[in-house]
Amino acid sequence: MTPVSPSSPLPARQPASLFIRGGRIIDPASGRDEIGDLLILDGRIAESTARPADSSVPMIDARGLIVAPGLIDMHVHLREPGGSQKETIATGTRAAAAGGFTSLLAMPNTNPPADGPHTIALMSQRARETACVNVFTTGCITVGMKGEQLAPIGSLYKAGVVAITDDGHCVQNNEVMRRALDYARMFDLLTLDHCQDYNLSAGGVMHEGYWSTVLGLPGWPRIAEDVIVARDILLSELTGARIHAQHISSGDSVRLIREAKRRGVKISAEAMPHHLALTDASVQHYDTNFKMNPPLRERADQEALLAGLADDTIEILASDHAPHASYEKEVEFAEAPFGIVGLETELGIFMKVLIEARVLDWPQMLGKLTVNPARLLNLDRGTLAPGAVGDVTLIHPGLPWVVEAGRFQSLSRNTPFHGWELPGRATHTIVDGRVVWSLERGFGG
Ligand code: DOR
Repeated sequence: MTPVSPSSPLPARQPASLFIRGGRIIDPASGRDEIGDLLILDGRIAESTARPADSSVPMIDARGLIVAPGLIDMHVHLREPGGSQKETIATGTRAAAAGGFTSLLAMPNTNPPADGPHTIALMSQRARETACVNVFTTGCITVGMKGEQLAPIGSLYKAGVVAITDDGHCVQNNEVMRRALDYARMFDLLTLDHCQDYNLSAGGVMHEGYWSTVLGLPGWPRIAEDVIVARDILLSELTGARIHAQHISSGDSVRLIREAKRRGVKISAEAMPHHLALTDASVQHYDTNFKMNPPLRERADQEALLAGLADDTIEILASDHAPHASYEKEVEFAEAPFGIVGLETELGIFMKVLIEARVLDWPQMLGKLTVNPARLLNLDRGTLAPGAVGDVTLIHPGLPWVVEAGRFQSLSRNTPFHGWELPGRATHTIVDGRVVWSLERGFGG
């Protein structure tokens, strides 16, 4: 079955030309890492690197900057339709652009959930009208994300989704999940799983451990993630379908995935900035900006995640950008919704905990934000090879800045990183050869 456009982005395209001079070009897809010039002609990376002589082609002086394929965040909640007090496609994509992301994958837990082609069509239309970066869509695994009845996966595929997930929820019925994987395999769609056993995590609002005991808050133990990761490994082996473990937080999950990969199981995984930078000790002031699902865990889990990133057990970095309005978060810890925003801080956090801490080098880190998500999702993105789409992110690797939640492009402010000093940031976000955002000029410049 041919989908409408499995890897076409949703905003209107206005391809442009651009000459990027003298940057450190890092293209993990090809192993390229060198100082050089990059030319984009009519929205595509050109073979030639010479600026056309006549030149009406604008130039960016990228000396001292990293020139990377446009960053892709494959875990973003845009909240439209149904949650426009938290975020819209317009504001969420502006947050993405300001964070250096040229593409994002929108989660389907909207209201109504994206469990049929009608909702995907609505989101696609809104993205065409209002998005400033590429929006790729996911569809639900089950109707209403209730975990009972399969969503029409073939119709979702035809409507253009590039993956399925019930993110925010986890299919508990193993038979339903098995059939979902059988269907997904027919279309080579990636199934993304939010790994959470509901019985083991029932009522939990933070990691089960020392701090949950001290604070008197119900615990969400890491075993609740681990058993679903183990289930997913077995179901992937049985069905031959590709499965992706979302927002991995537990050290034991990393071990299970590493062992499964060694056996050739088609499982992949992602890590989030907050699980790498924070532990459950941060919850001690009952600040709801430290509440997310899965929860912050312990130092040993953090170390296992870092080791998993270093040996490529975890091949994806993403944000789980989950905006919530202040009035929703400003309640008792146990009552607050799970989730924090991430698009505008993630690159800086990754630079701090991965590059500065020497866990990964730049090509390794950028691979997890470009070519790896592009390959998993079958997107024609994530490389600077000649002929590729001219999506490029320029990054200043040594430009310390302080996070100010009040200045976010996102409609929401629920970040645990307010006041943090981060080592660097994106300076230009370029989509189809067009600068959609720059640090100096903001949007359109
Ligand atoms: O913290 C989270 N928030 N985790 C999820 O899985 C869902 C998300 C949301 O939608 O708010």
